[in-house]
Amino acid sequence: MKIDKLEKTGFDKNNIINYGNMFLVGNGHLGYRGTYEEYTKEQMVSLNVVGLYDKYKKSWRESINMPNPFKVLVKCLDESFSILENEPVYNYQSLDLEHALFYRKTEYKELTIESERFIPFIDQNLILFKYTITANDKDLSLNIKLGTDTDIYEINGPHFRTKKLLHRGKKIEFRGRTNELRRVSEINQYIFNAKEIEYDNGMFSFNLELKENGKYDIYCFSTIIENGDLDIDIPKYLVSSYKRIKNAHFKDLENKWKIAHIELKGDEHAQFALNYSIYHMLILGNERFETSIPARGVSGQVYKGAIFWDTEIFMVPFFTLTNPKVARSLLKYRINTLKGALAKAKEYGYDGAFYAWESQDTGLEACSKYNITDRKTGKPIRTYFNEKQIHISADIVYAFDKYVQVTSDHSILDDGGLDVMKEVAKFFISYSKLDKGKYHINDCIGPDEYHERVDDEAFTTYLAKYAVDTCIKYMDDIDLKNKFKEFSENIYLPKLNDYNIIEQFKGYYKKEDVKVEDVRLRLSDENDYWGAEASKTRVIKQADVIALLVLLNNQFNKDVFKANFDFYYPYTEHGSSLSSSMYSIIASLVGYSDIAYDMFIKSATIDLDGKKKEWAGGIYIGGTHPASNAGSYLSVVFGFAGLILKDDGYTLNPNLPDKIESLKFKFIFNNKIQNICINRDNTYVITEEDL
Ligand code: BGC
Repeated sequence: MKIDKLEKTGFDKNNIINYGNMFLVGNGHLGYRGTYEEYTKEQMVSLNVVGLYDKYKKSWRESINMPNPFKVLVKCLDESFSILENEPVYNYQSLDLEHALFYRKTEYKELTIESERFIPFIDQNLILFKYTITANDKDLSLNIKLGTDTDIYEINGPHFRTKKLLHRGKKIEFRGRTNELRRVSEINQYIFNAKEIEYDNGMFSFNLELKENGKYDIYCFSTIIENGDLDIDIPKYLVSSYKRIKNAHFKDLENKWKIAHIELKGDEHAQFALNYSIYHMLILGNERFETSIPARGVSGQVYKGAIFWDTEIFMVPFFTLTNPKVARSLLKYRINTLKGALAKAKEYGYDGAFYAWESQDTGLEACSKYNITDRKTGKPIRTYFNEKQIHISADIVYAFDKYVQVTSDHSILDDGGLDVMKEVAKFFISYSKLDKGKYHINDCIGPDEYHERVDDEAFTTYLAKYAVDTCIKYMDDIDLKNKFKEFSENIYLPKLNDYNIIEQFKGYYKKEDVKVEDVRLRLSDENDYWGAEASKTRVIKQADVIALLVLLNNQFNKDVFKANFDFYYPYTEHGSSLSSSMYSIIASLVGYSDIAYDMFIKSATIDLDGKKKEWAGGIYIGGTHPASNAGSYLSVVFGFAGLILKDDGYTLNPNLPDKIESLKFKFIFNNKIQNICINRDNTYVITEEDL
């Protein structure tokens, strides 16, 4: 297994924010953007904590960022060695995807700066930094400023209503109390040699005499703790601790890759993009946390650090197949937040569990009623994602069902999974309206968010029935079972028309028949919110009926896949990064292997060089795109390899794109490792081994 690094040379100020996302490191709990030590909040330095949220006044509640533990500024006389002010002779940065290690090297004539950082999985709350200065061709007298920057980059902050900095020796302790009165601390232990050290407001300052070719190292161990008694909890770290923790971290990552890695022989570009996608999954999956994975991973506060259907429909399947313990902890999050879903249903007058469209620690709804602002006027636009995107509850049941199918771990059902299913079933029944003997699910929004408040939405109704049927499959209670059966047998499902097409919602065919480019021309700016124009037309934001066909592939045949692909493809904007992987999978299943390949590449390169939306109207929505990363994995496994999961096993129906000579991957099914090897002619060999 060879996993190339992500590497970039040179420096372009316009890439700072983008590289911050691209070179992200994390461990599913903490995330640190790929920024440089001299950067400030202007360059979006952020140490993001998953699972800790705060609300400042009336602004959106979001995940919190901590102070930057490792700010370094180097000066020689009056010359500053900050890349923002001083152009280097050579600049390089890399992300070791195999070991989740960030590295940077900036060379000036006089000196070279190198730094690295990683966030281990072994110690959940820790992040480690190393910074090295080398004097190049003469002795140097330097001044170093080093420490903790409490001027935090925040979108809807400030989140710390009180901030206290304590300083003892080479240790700096930040104690913050959020607006919601949570006590969060960051303790930063620095290791460096200096004679006279001054300290001011989080920053050490000292002079350094560096001999020609001499090297000078600085280390930092930063620990984030909630409600901790820091002096008791934190060990004293040494330089040897850095090496020890780094070695263990490397081994840990190598183990994670063992099952997750996929070999795409003959296509280096695709291989690299897929490795990069899998890297992003690996730095997000942490079985020890039940805080789930936000839509922008650990890259910051965009989308409020909230959890969407992205997790259950895209990411959970990746973990179910490669690391079921992580999948289990992601599902546990939904069990733990059932209370919030029950409360939301009650608030809107329904029974059961109405999961939050944007969910945080409590499971209460974090999605604003005005989730988008008009780019030109700055006026908030009323959206109904919160109240009407009800498919989220069914998506959660779907993820539980697939997890149980693949792992045979029925204990998740006793641990609360079955309660989730029952409450979701009750919710859909109470949401539906009985009309001429049929239960209709009206006034909702499918994955295509451009058409709000529509009736008989295909994705939603099919998934709602699936959720109720899944509950029936696992439960014993006869009375409840009968009630659910009556609903399931009589729910109205949009039918296939004479051409095998499923109408996305009632009245969709009557919408203006224009294509994506026509709507684009109607916008005054690419960053305008598309929904306003697209809603009048057949143009959709993302895979909707196509997503339904992917999820419920057992219920439809190839003719249906093909007819719907042909029909919806020209109308799909792919305005969400979640769209292209779904199209890739169906394209593979109908034999459109070139499109399948292109859509896979689009999904896998979203954060590398892919085109993505950074703005929705006036709201910044940049960051990493883990659902798209997971989607590229699914495009290969469910698309190229044609894996179909069933209650009694699985089947493969490969269709390799031309560029790929062979495909090899592993997944865990029923506690055994499945080794899959698919040849160019789509013949394949499966071998099984013990875990
Ligand atoms: C998409 C949603 C997705 C959300 C978070 C939106 O743009 O339409 O489907 O859940 O982004 O990724």
